[in-house]
Amino acid sequence: SSDPLVIFTPSGKRGHFPVGTPVLTAARQLGVDLDSVCGGRGICSKCQITPSYGEFSKHGVTVADDALTEWNKVEQRYKDKRGLIDGRRLGCQAQVQGDVVIDVPPESQVHRQVVRKRAEARDITMNPSTRLFYVEVEEPDMHKPSGDMERLIEALDSQWQLKNVKTDLHILQSLQPALRKGKWKVTVAVHLGDESNPPKIMHIWPGYYEGSLYGLAVDLGSTTIAAHLCDLISGEVIASSGIMNPQIRFGEDLMSRVSYSMMNEGGDREMTRAVREGMNALFTQIAAEAEIDKNLIVDAVFVCNPVMHHLFLGIDPFELGQAPFALATSDSLALRATELDLNIHPAARVYLLPCIAGHVGADAAAVALSEAPDKSEDLVLVVDVGTNAEILLGDKTKVLACSSPTGPAFEGAQISSGQRAAPGAIERLEINPETKEPRFRVIGSEIWSDEEGFDAAIATTGITGICGSGIIEAIAEMRMAGVLDASGLIGSAEQTGTPRCVQDGRTNAYLVWDGSAEGGPKISITNPDIRAIQMAKAALYSGARLLMDKFGVDTVDRVVLAGAFGAHISAKHAMVLGMIPDCPIDKVTSAGNAAGTGARIALLNTKARSEIEQTVRRIEKIETAVEPRFQEHFVNASAIPNSKEPFPILAS
Ligand code: FES
Repeated sequence: SSDPLVIFTPSGKRGHFPVGTPVLTAARQLGVDLDSVCGGRGICSKCQITPSYGEFSKHGVTVADDALTEWNKVEQRYKDKRGLIDGRRLGCQAQVQGDVVIDVPPESQVHRQVVRKRAEARDITMNPSTRLFYVEVEEPDMHKPSGDMERLIEALDSQWQLKNVKTDLHILQSLQPALRKGKWKVTVAVHLGDESNPPKIMHIWPGYYEGSLYGLAVDLGSTTIAAHLCDLISGEVIASSGIMNPQIRFGEDLMSRVSYSMMNEGGDREMTRAVREGMNALFTQIAAEAEIDKNLIVDAVFVCNPVMHHLFLGIDPFELGQAPFALATSDSLALRATELDLNIHPAARVYLLPCIAGHVGADAAAVALSEAPDKSEDLVLVVDVGTNAEILLGDKTKVLACSSPTGPAFEGAQISSGQRAAPGAIERLEINPETKEPRFRVIGSEIWSDEEGFDAAIATTGITGICGSGIIEAIAEMRMAGVLDASGLIGSAEQTGTPRCVQDGRTNAYLVWDGSAEGGPKISITNPDIRAIQMAKAALYSGARLLMDKFGVDTVDRVVLAGAFGAHISAKHAMVLGMIPDCPIDKVTSAGNAAGTGARIALLNTKARSEIEQTVRRIEKIETAVEPRFQEHFVNASAIPNSKEPFPILAS
């Protein structure tokens, strides 16, 4: 062809186009991902491109040339009014004049990649449920009678190829003023629909709407509810916040909430109301923090364990309290926010990830989405440490999952000096193996207790207690310093040679900090504390070990610690304690709140929703409660690190 050659990067797509073809048109024809909200009218600037190589055509002008011609006056107007990054052009205005290479920057791609910070984590490909479209609607004509909505729907079809678009009463109510105020030009937010739902108009603005659309990724935990507010266009997290789950007043752990609903008429409804109210308070708070209108939140994704899942939906969790632990449904759910009493956009959609099995919930599915064990070349053990531990083991051949009742000890509950992770809590602790003296650091300060400036550093927070990661380090350090034996007993002052080992009732305790002189607390690790942690870590370890049996392996290649708490555990201490199987320390990584990340992926990429639905169907669930070997592993794993399993890598 004698027409100029146009090559787009990074896609590499190419074709010949006649001189004068707008870049956006060429991109459309080649299927290049180049964004546009205004449909090529030079208003939205979403179509920005960078000409990276252009040969001068016989006209002497290429898109790389900033020379003004007739055709880019619109662009000049745009540039004068709002500015344009140097070298950037509006793809809908710039025209092909000769052979050219055109780069589409990430911001101009609808399906842009949101880069995740961890090296081993996959990036998120944007594919949000709802997008903005600017349209020009035909004015009414007495001779061709038709409703304003019909003409809007017609415009969406002809200008955007959106077929069969549906709407709601609330849109009809604002339609006529919006069309007239915008002089027959409006921006609409359209939920793009899926196989079972047609596209739907969610919101309408007169003229060109410059703002964004938002979504929520919510990790509904038994202890805390954490939400990320995400920009549905850029993919960025614009605010993150959390609250305590208000259901705590009905029971600390899940089973006590299930029994609350069994013992109290209407107890399940009370808990449903509490969690929804808490959620609404959280959403108001997060929207205020981000300074956005709550009504612009058009999509929300929730992940939770099965009991929270049922209570949030308003389903009595009774059946989850007894074998065979039948869920009302384990499928994913697509609902409307109003059905769940959520005060966000009135037409907002809600998506709940599928549950894996009776005790393995949508939170585990979200972890699987985030950490993708089903795509791993090597064998990976993923543990999400919380009140329940969700455990996944697998590689690309198969993935197994189970849940293990660790209880709240890892979160500092049931521990004599325990507290939640908050400023003032001891989070790091070391014990000198010679002197048996501790040094520690508290949350909110970077300075160790034996360093200069410590008193000043903790002046505002004080030393208030010890949080989950602090307990784990303390117990592992006690074991390594020889003040604690493998069975979990603390030695006496005579046996250990340190006055820090004090008599505490009929057993001993290790005194970490005595603040009583200044009216502060005495922080010590007692034998009951150690037992609580032994139970929790044994539950975690035996769940992992059971999956390894089922997989037919004795070792794993790597371990991923997930969960807010997982982010703070030191790999070495977790292994000294025998929480996780023996594995090279550098193969133990932290994934942070992987369930929350999984929710975010499902929010930003609707394709990931069907992906995880398929993955979940392939995950093999193991019910720990009915496995005899679980008990056996549990007994062995109560010792520190373990009475039967060798830890060869740790030992060396
Ligand atoms: Fe909107 Fe180009 S497509 S400015």
